[in-house]
Amino acid sequence: MGYSQPYITIDPGEYHVLHPRPAYLIVSMDKNGSLNAMAASWVMPVSDDPFIIALALDKETKTHQNIVETGEFTVNVMGEEHATLVYRAGSLSGKNTDKWRLLKLEPEPSKQIRTPGVKGSYGFLECRAERFLDVESVTLVLARVLAIHVRGDLYERYGWNLEKARILMHVRGRVFTVPGKIVVVPKS
Ligand SMILES: Cc1cc2nc3c(=O)[nH]c(=O)nc-3n(C[C@H](O)[C@H](O)[C@H](O)COP(=O)(O)O)c2cc1C
Repeated sequence: MGYSQPYITIDPGEYHVLHPRPAYLIVSMDKNGSLNAMAASWVMPVSDDPFIIALALDKETKTHQNIVETGEFTVNVMGEEHATLVYRAGSLSGKNTDKWRLLKLEPEPSKQIRTPGVKGSYGFLECRAERFLDVESVTLVLARVLAIHVRGDLYERYGWNLEKARILMHVRGRVFTVPGKIVVVPKS
């Protein structure tokens, strides 16, 4: 902390300064039951009890249309091995492609909602949208987590086993990373 380096001032719109962030797959369903998946990294926990999350969702996406229609979605935690899949789910729109088929996704059934998770994801959260906040070109969706499913080989009592779960994070564009080091703060 004592070592001082000069700061440089960068463009105030350079949001990548808040990356890397986990890159999830959001699965949603339209009113006819067709499934769609999009990449999302602007997802955050808001309240722990009850567990509420927020999702910043571009109003132009098919996912936005689906969630407004059905009120439900799943958040799927993805790994290094899913980077290409996540990138493609984030570069095409379900408005003009059947991404579910194109990306050869398979459903993993949910317990509380109709929308499934993605088979092979590290885990998924079943969510019900409760509030929609209008923010410029985005809707901030506040959603209640109704159920959580995790892969038993990757999740332990206190969370992900980071040696096994190579949780995918988005840096920018085609660049992703995974957690690389575990830091444990000593007891004082
Ligand atoms: C790694 C990554 C993260 C993304 N995160 C978000 C996000 O948090 N919110 C958002 O609205 N779009 C995000 N996008 C863009 C959407 O995934 C993209 O617009 C997608 O085509 C929307 O798909 P849809 O129209 O089928 O719903 C992200 C894209 C990538 C590649």
